[in-house]
Amino acid sequence: MLMYQIKNFCIIILQDIRIYEGEMNINENYLNLEQSYLFSTVARKVNEFAKNNPDKKIIRLGIGDVTLPLCKAVIDAMHKAVDEMAKQETFRGYGPEQGYDFLQNAVKNYYKKRSVELEISEIFISDGAKSDLGNILDLFSKDNTVLVPDPVYPVYVDTNIMAGRKVVFANANGENGFLPMPDLSQKVDIIYICSPNNPTGAVYNKEQLKQWVDYAKSINAIILFDAAYECFVSDENLPKSIYEIDGAKDCAIEFCSLSKTAGFTGTRCGYTIVPENLDKLNKFWLRRQTTKFNGVPYIIQRGAEAVFSDNGQKEIKENIEYYKENAKTISQTLDECGIWYTGGKHSPYIWLKCPNNMTSWEFFDYLLENIQVVGTPGSGFGKNGEGYFRLTSFGSKENTIEAMKRFKTLFKK
Ligand code: MLT
Repeated sequence: MLMYQIKNFCIIILQDIRIYEGEMNINENYLNLEQSYLFSTVARKVNEFAKNNPDKKIIRLGIGDVTLPLCKAVIDAMHKAVDEMAKQETFRGYGPEQGYDFLQNAVKNYYKKRSVELEISEIFISDGAKSDLGNILDLFSKDNTVLVPDPVYPVYVDTNIMAGRKVVFANANGENGFLPMPDLSQKVDIIYICSPNNPTGAVYNKEQLKQWVDYAKSINAIILFDAAYECFVSDENLPKSIYEIDGAKDCAIEFCSLSKTAGFTGTRCGYTIVPENLDKLNKFWLRRQTTKFNGVPYIIQRGAEAVFSDNGQKEIKENIEYYKENAKTISQTLDECGIWYTGGKHSPYIWLKCPNNMTSWEFFDYLLENIQVVGTPGSGFGKNGEGYFRLTSFGSKENTIEAMKRFKTLFKK
């Protein structure tokens, strides 16, 4: 009897398996992506080189990862928060998915100093701009057409390819200073803007951003504005937030991160602003976050709050100045070598033309093999990036100086 039951049970299971066989469809849009993410490809190549050349010192100026430690104000706040977690009376479990109000208030005040008024309900604390730039796409239909500058941070294109959305490009090039302007005859639904731009370091001024805002409103499109590098803008007249532009609250979502601002690349905290004026999007984003996200850890949010304190602001500014000095070291070297470049002033990135007509990946290999300096091939940011190369100023001062000394051995006239 028992054997009979087991046999029948097995038959039922096998039948069930057969019923579902072949019915599971994977997201084949992934087949349309490059085989690996740009920075993973760079890392793989560098690791291979390191394995075969253990005696060579590699200097990494590729991915925009910070090297200075978290500032004192942040560390003190996080220590205090850890102590709170150790006591029953002050322990915290789940927090609000959209962030604790103390951090939302700190962000609100940060914007207020730039004359941008935000409601608390518009501020969503996140684990960084990269995740939210990808996650926000949950809110949009697959049928939307997306306008992406070329070259640009590859996450914008990849996340839309994953969803099967049509992507069209706004050409950024030497002629337009890597700042493409809207083509008024073009109808798109989602527009990405990154200013200061990754990878070129180009920054839109207020008049240019106003043209984008007016264009978006005229075609009923949404702007996804990536402000991850706003803290590098040192000219008061240049906008750090799209909400400094009239009408932007009617058509733009802004993403920002403490990764580059305060060295949070490994600590993970950022914020996304979804204006109440974008009625449904604000509500849907809250709905999405409360369903799929459990919030940023309390300890991290206390550290993030400290970034906006007077001490925190003073300390992070010193760190940003340190990276800007590195950018100067790189720019001066390129000047001495007669190599064309842009960026590095309001951005941690220097975008240069590969010497001797090398392609981006040829130049990458050339630098790695000859002087063991790693950068990021421009073509990884889009077809218009071919023949260009990105160096980051986020390395240590010593490594940046050493890298540029090596660079001159190859290119100084
Ligand atoms: C970059 O190097 O472009 C950035 O570090 C990537 C990122 O912020 O995710």
